[in-house]
Amino acid sequence: MRRPFIAGNWKMNMTHLQAISFIQDLEYKYSNKNNCEVAVCPPATSLKSVKTIIDSDNIDIKLGAQNMYYESSGAFTGEISPEMLKALGVEYVIVGHSERRQYFGETNNIVNKKVKAAFNAGLKPIMCVGESLKVRESGKAEEFVLSQIEECLNGINEESIIDLTVAYEPIWAIGTGKTATSKDANDVCLVVRRKIGEIFSKKISEIIRIQYGGSIKPSSISDLMNMSDIDGALVGGASLEVDDFIAIINY
Ligand code: 13P
Repeated sequence: MRRPFIAGNWKMNMTHLQAISFIQDLEYKYSNKNNCEVAVCPPATSLKSVKTIIDSDNIDIKLGAQNMYYESSGAFTGEISPEMLKALGVEYVIVGHSERRQYFGETNNIVNKKVKAAFNAGLKPIMCVGESLKVRESGKAEEFVLSQIEECLNGINEESIIDLTVAYEPIWAIGTGKTATSKDANDVCLVVRRKIGEIFSKKISEIIRIQYGGSIKPSSISDLMNMSDIDGALVGGASLEVDDFIAIINY
């Protein structure tokens, strides 16, 4: 049985002061009736402040980062290494988000390096994949996503891979208010799981969690979570509203 995993991707929102008051409010109202694993992924500038509050209140919310570089240290101005995140108490890191692919030129090859670097540093990557509207309309969504899976997971060893989460985020559903139907989302998650089974083993494919992301709202989460191969959600906009995020956790 895979434990449901709900993560909030705050994207480039909130100063660290706003993040502090947000996480305090979230903790105050927090409930988790499904015993989900829950993570928040604030911008790098808020990681330390959020971690301090979560730890001092001893609440079971995990910390994730939104990005990292794949080198450990060196002359890479502006970048943050996996080891730096680990030292802050970060557990998860989002890699290959479509916004990073689209605006910052992140390729499957770079995502692959980041997944490996995350594992080397003891971080758990949430690896995003997903097709554009053009690809979906051409009927090649599954093929496209599977090639992302293959390239991004190239050369990763079996011991590490169990800590991977895949987030299927169709680009056309992100921030648009258009959620994929539960069936369409599940169809892609199912083929992703099968592909992971082919690359690694059936056992591993049954352990790895696959999240859906894209315009998730309290009203759409239950149907998605009822599907056979959707194990959680990567929530953008709705994770910035305390009440909505809690409603999603308690789908
Ligand atoms: P929205 O929920 O705002 O569509 O964002 C989804 C997303 O990109 C999460 O990573």
